[in-house]
Amino acid sequence: MPIWYGGDYNPEQWPEEVWEEDVRLMQRGGITLATVGVFSWARLEPREGEFDFGWLDRVLDGLHAGGIRVDLATATASPPPWLPHAYPEVLPVTADGVTLSVGSRQHYCPSSPVYRRLAARLVSAIAERYGSHPALELWHVNNEYGCHVAHCYCDVSAKAFREWLRARYGSVERLNEAWGTAFWSQQYGDFAEVYPPRAMPTFTNPGHALDFDRFSSDELLDCYRMERDILREVTPEVPITTNFMGFFKGVDYWRWAKEVDVVSDDSYPDPADPDSPAYGAMVRDLVRSLGAGRPWILMEQASSAVNWRRRNAAKPAGMNRGLSYQALGRGADGILYFQWRQSVAGAEKFHSGMLPHSGTETKTWREIEQLGGELAGLDRVRGTRVPADVAILFDWDSWWSIEQEATPGEIPYVQHAFAWYRELHRRTVTADFVSPSADLSRYRAVIVPSLFVATAEALAGLDAYVRAGGRLLVTFQTGITDQDAHITEGGYLGVLAETLGVRVEEFAPPAGPDLAGTGGAPVPGTAFGGELIRGGTGTLWSEYLHSEGADVLASFEGGELDGWPAITANRRGEGRAWYVATLPDPDAMAALLDAVLSDAGVSPVLAQPVEGVEAVRRGDSVFLVNHTPAEARVTLNGAEHVLEPRGVAVLDIDGL
Ligand code: GLA
Repeated sequence: MPIWYGGDYNPEQWPEEVWEEDVRLMQRGGITLATVGVFSWARLEPREGEFDFGWLDRVLDGLHAGGIRVDLATATASPPPWLPHAYPEVLPVTADGVTLSVGSRQHYCPSSPVYRRLAARLVSAIAERYGSHPALELWHVNNEYGCHVAHCYCDVSAKAFREWLRARYGSVERLNEAWGTAFWSQQYGDFAEVYPPRAMPTFTNPGHALDFDRFSSDELLDCYRMERDILREVTPEVPITTNFMGFFKGVDYWRWAKEVDVVSDDSYPDPADPDSPAYGAMVRDLVRSLGAGRPWILMEQASSAVNWRRRNAAKPAGMNRGLSYQALGRGADGILYFQWRQSVAGAEKFHSGMLPHSGTETKTWREIEQLGGELAGLDRVRGTRVPADVAILFDWDSWWSIEQEATPGEIPYVQHAFAWYRELHRRTVTADFVSPSADLSRYRAVIVPSLFVATAEALAGLDAYVRAGGRLLVTFQTGITDQDAHITEGGYLGVLAETLGVRVEEFAPPAGPDLAGTGGAPVPGTAFGGELIRGGTGTLWSEYLHSEGADVLASFEGGELDGWPAITANRRGEGRAWYVATLPDPDAMAALLDAVLSDAGVSPVLAQPVEGVEAVRRGDSVFLVNHTPAEARVTLNGAEHVLEPRGVAVLDIDGL
């Protein structure tokens, strides 16, 4: 089987004469998989209960005749206008009480029984019609669940939220306890009194807000499961996916990933952002990890510019290829785009396509064709795994909670994780992401950036990992609350305080700068230093930290915190645990990570990393991607390899 190559194909936007040319050009471009029908509900069911499949039959037959496999969508992401017209209660409502209208997409309340009933009927009809079509390779459920409407606050959602809470807590007394409703006179007498956290005079109860995030993710997941179960019943042998969106806050992908046969992801790194290669790599590593290391599909990327940024940079020549190889190197078995043919009408007509407005005499098409040809020769990569010695702990409960209102200081959760990831990426150390309940035993080192919400079991698991010989690096704002958003019993960090040999007395976040920049005059960071690191600068955080047995590797310097520990290390059982009370500048972080990784026995892919060159091992190959516009020279196992500007190489290391 080849590496899948293709994209979203929306033939309903074109007259039928164009379809033949589409198949011909797909063949020329090396396309093997087309995602069809993502936004076809209105064409498939033009009036309630009246289905029109004739046109889709012809599309699928044409693709099949051309040797192109189909990832067939269930078309439920954009209800046709007749639906909300007949059943206005399906329209989603924002926290401010605004009803979202028809005329774009995703205008449905995930809890709506009407939406679910009509979506189920459509999915059944599609499954019955195409379940045995010879072109069918994969089912594609809905599209980017939650992308535009991750939360709905309408009355239907309110009812569903109450049911979800009843199932979670059993009694309203238990809910009161969990949410701490003794505060501000919030005690509920009955589930009926509970509402979604709609616009309020001031801060929402943190437990209420956290449970609404969990509920909203679960409601969308129920929509997915409903469709998945219909498809599975009709075609038990056909794999099922729904396209994820990398670090997307709206839904907890750890819960979702268990429910799909193949993880797939949509990814649009900004060509104008110098951090995009590293951030793109982080997303790929998350996506691979969601599927427990199984190969995944890059379901959507842009061949060049998107249309939804303030200014939409075109991809310079070679970037699309580089980011595609990055995905392959990090475990993808498919490289697909949004979309095949660039639209001439509608809200996405300025979004690039594989086949641009300007046709085939274009840099974009030439690159599409070139990549198609290259992928056809990379079968050996398919199905192989990406080894990783390091894990980064990532948790949606923590993300939701740490970014709530009324916290000690703003911490952008993903950017914080990225700060650590970027340094690993720079030194060509491959990382997996793990959930708080993961088995960590196969990792040499684990990094825990601000695990704000942690159950006692999760903290005990981290402690057990260290005692058994693991190397653990924990940052500030970890183990602050339990799963009910209550301050951790026994003090911040819980049992991890013993693991780390420290005690957090009080938070003292500096005025700035934060990771997003201050938007004003830069505020100097907090100085720290010690034997390991001299002249370090910390941003984002500082605190009053005591060592209770840990070695102090660096202390804050100057100001109120002068002399208080900033970075510590502690032996525990067979392992060692570091605590970092600030976000070190890149040089300081580099020094710290070098110490941790060498203590853990982690080897990078390249002994001498080259700035701007990514290296990752997959199976018996090493993927090199030069993300810079200049030639680069890389030494691997004693041999020098020259990479063209934005060039790539896949080196066989079999036997080494
Ligand atoms: C998402 C959607 C696509 C398209 C692209 C544009 O990924 O799934 O339908 O809107 O964004 O970038």
